[in-house]
Amino acid sequence: FNSLTNPADFAIRNLLDNAENSLYILSDEEVLKMCEEILKKYPKSPRANFLKAEILIKMAEEKQSNSILEQGITQYQKVLDLPDVPYALLVDAGTKLAEKQIFRGWNGKATKTWRFLSDKYPNDVKLKNKLGVSYLMANQNEEARKTFEKVLEMDHGDGLAKVHLGFIIKTIDNDPEKALPFLIEGVASEAEGTKDGRFYFHLGDAFQRLNLLKEAYKVYKTGAENGLFLSSIQRSLYNVNTLTGRPWWTAEETGYTEDLKLFEESWKVIRDEGMAQLDAKTGGFTPESENLREKGEWKQFVLYQRGQKNKKNCEKAPKTCELIDRMEAVKTNKRGQVKFSVIHPGTHIWPHCGPTNCRLRAHLGLKVPTGINIRVGQEKRTWKEGKFIIFDDSFEHEVWHNGNELRLVLIVDFWHPDLTEEQKKTLSPI
Ligand code: LMR
Ligand code: MN
Repeated sequence: FNSLTNPADFAIRNLLDNAENSLYILSDEEVLKMCEEILKKYPKSPRANFLKAEILIKMAEEKQSNSILEQGITQYQKVLDLPDVPYALLVDAGTKLAEKQIFRGWNGKATKTWRFLSDKYPNDVKLKNKLGVSYLMANQNEEARKTFEKVLEMDHGDGLAKVHLGFIIKTIDNDPEKALPFLIEGVASEAEGTKDGRFYFHLGDAFQRLNLLKEAYKVYKTGAENGLFLSSIQRSLYNVNTLTGRPWWTAEETGYTEDLKLFEESWKVIRDEGMAQLDAKTGGFTPESENLREKGEWKQFVLYQRGQKNKKNCEKAPKTCELIDRMEAVKTNKRGQVKFSVIHPGTHIWPHCGPTNCRLRAHLGLKVPTGINIRVGQEKRTWKEGKFIIFDDSFEHEVWHNGNELRLVLIVDFWHPDLTEEQKKTLSPI
C-alpha cells in the first residue's frame, strides 16, 4: 500500500493509476468518464472519488466556472464522508476542500471542514492550527483563542499557535503586556507561517506601547530586512512596491494642486459643515475604534470610504461631498476615506502606520488651536486653518494634543500619484 491507498483501492490500483496518469494526457472529459466508470463499480473508492474532485476543479479553473467549482467542492466533501479513507488522502482532500471553500467566499464552511479534520485526528497539532486560523478568518475570535490555547497545551513550543494567540491578545484584548511573550517566542521560533508582517507589526507595536522603543525598532528592522515592511518606519501591509515613499509631501509633488486648492478655497463652508456635526445629540461623529489612543477623545465623521459615498452622512455635509464628487483621485479611491476628524485636548494617539501605501493623506485644517502636533517619520508639524498638510500615512505617525480647544480637520485620501489606471481599477478595497 501507499499512504493514499486503502486495501480496497489496492485491489484496483491499476485502474486508478491508469486514470490518474491520464490526467495530463487525455482531455478532462475523457478522464472524468474513466473516473465515473470506476465509480460505477466501486462507488466508495476514496481515490476514484478524490480524482473526480481533482478533475472537476481543473475544469472549473480552465472554464472559470463557479458551477463546476461547486461540483468539485461537493465531490471533495464526498471524499471526507467516505469510510476508510487513509489519513494522507483525507487531509489532502480536506485541505483542498477548505481552500476552495474560501475561494468561493464560504469561510464558515471552511471552518467546518477544518473542525471535521481536527475532530477526526485530535492529536494532530497542525490540523488544530489550521482550524484556529480559519476561525480567525471567519471572525470567530473566541473559538480561535481556545483552539490555539489547546495547541499550546499539547505542545508548549508551537510557534504558530504562539504568534496567533499573541495576535489575539494584542488586537482583541488590547493587552500588549500579556501578548508580548507569546509574540516574542512565536516570532523567534521561525516556525512555518510565523514570518508574517502582521506578527512583526504587532510585536513591535506591543514593545512601543510598553515604551520599549529599542526593542520595537529592532523588530521593525528585522521585518524590513525580511521584506515584510517597506522600511522600518513604513509598515503598511497592503502595498504596491514600486511607489515613491516619503513621510511628508508638498501639493506640487502630489500633482493634485488643483483639487487641493478647490478644497482650500471652500474651507470655511467645509468647516461649518463639520462643526455642525459636533452636536452631541444631532451630530454624527463616532469614536475611533482601532485602539490607537493612549488617552483622550478622538472622533470621526465619515463621508467616503473604500471609494463609496456614505449617502446618509453626505446629506449632512452636502457642500463638502459635492466637492469630493468632482475629484476622481478621491472619490474612486478604494483604499482610502474622506472624513472629518476631531481631537480633544489631552489626547495622545499612539505611533502607528496605516494599512496601505497606495494613498496619500491630506489634512485640511478647519479648527486648529495651539499645542497640537503630528509627527510623521522623524518630522513634527502642526496644522493651519484653511491649509492642507499632506503625508503618507503608511509611515509611522503620532499625534499629541496638549492645547485647550478641540482640533478639527477634514482628512482626504488621494490615490498615490504613481499608481497606473489599471492598478487603481484592480486593487482590492481597504
Ligand atoms: C491619524 O493618525 O490618522 C491622525 O492623524 C488623524 C487625525 O485626526 O489627526
Ligand atoms: Mn493614522
